[in-house]
Amino acid sequence: MSKFFLRAAVAVVISVGASWASAQSSYPIKVGLMLPSSGTFANLGKDVMDGFKLYVTEQGGKLGGRPVEYIALDDESDPSKANENANKLVKRDKVDVLIGTIHSGVAATMAKVARETNTLMIVPNAGAGEITGSMCAPNVFRSSFSNWQPGYAAGLLAAKKHKTAVTISWKYAAGNESVKGFREGFEKGGGKVLTDLNLPFPGVEFQPLLAQLATIKPEAAYVFVAGAAQVKFVKDYAAAGLKTSIPLYGAFITEGTLAAQGDAAAGLLTTLHYADGLKNPKNDKFMAAYTKAYGAAPNVFGVQGYDAAQMYDVGLKAVKGDTKKKAEIYKAIEISKIDSPRGPLTFSKSHNPIQDFYVRVARGNQNVMTDTIVKGLVDPSPDCKL
Ligand code: PHB
Repeated sequence: MSKFFLRAAVAVVISVGASWASAQSSYPIKVGLMLPSSGTFANLGKDVMDGFKLYVTEQGGKLGGRPVEYIALDDESDPSKANENANKLVKRDKVDVLIGTIHSGVAATMAKVARETNTLMIVPNAGAGEITGSMCAPNVFRSSFSNWQPGYAAGLLAAKKHKTAVTISWKYAAGNESVKGFREGFEKGGGKVLTDLNLPFPGVEFQPLLAQLATIKPEAAYVFVAGAAQVKFVKDYAAAGLKTSIPLYGAFITEGTLAAQGDAAAGLLTTLHYADGLKNPKNDKFMAAYTKAYGAAPNVFGVQGYDAAQMYDVGLKAVKGDTKKKAEIYKAIEISKIDSPRGPLTFSKSHNPIQDFYVRVARGNQNVMTDTIVKGLVDPSPDCKL
């Protein structure tokens, strides 16, 4: 081949490559948002979505330099529909990333689909241990917590003042694991859990359990119910006269619902990886932007959505928006250091957040931070083989 033809051929290849690259970069990233917009977790789903979209808006509507197209569906927090819903997003809609969800059982099924199809998944809430445990995978990450983490932190806190406790929870992965974490922390601090009481998800018939609790008379109680149901739980607890006799501990029990819970929640102590008005420069900016955009202050669910978007952006930027470079995207997220409104956020080898847990007290409409109960808490994830 003459030099001329060689140069011409190279030029053609380069220009085809360049136009392919620029076509690809103007082509939208498809973000699959599989979250509940109905049922007891509807508000949590909205908060996650609002947080995610806020970050994207701050980046001029882009992630990794590419415009973003959202494909959202209501997962109804129904595990029996999870496989079909996740497959719709991955196979029919061909999303580049699965963001979801709130409910541990639904998220575990999504994670199976993500694993099988090598689709990036970022869990912006559900704490199911297996997702970053026995089922952990290079392409599956969490921006939130494992159920064990906040439960363990609450156990450490309760053990500072009490020797005996009873737990109340919904009987599904999140309730079981949260209680397990509480037990571990409480026993580590020298306490003993006397009994675990439970009811089916998403039941709100708390009276029989509260009656049992009153008969057992432990020094403290720990509860895991969540979403809209936690409003009724806290009101029922106060109305039964238990609030003063058996101090109640929780993790999520007052998160995002203080206005609806009113006086019944005043003074309740909880342990989470975020608190209202947390003092750091990132949170100052985040709170202002979130409140401006949505007319209400953010809570932990908004933070987890926002950080899921930050994580994906880090991954995409590492490959200049080229979604085919999957392994490089996963690696970049794995080693990322996210400037989160909760404080610095990094990831364990199982892709679960390493983060501080704060003690919060319910005061007016805020869960105010009073202390840090454990710094840089890592879920041990012994079953994760990555
Ligand atoms: C869960 O199912 O993992 C879950 C749901 C709601 C919460 C926390 C955890 O507030």
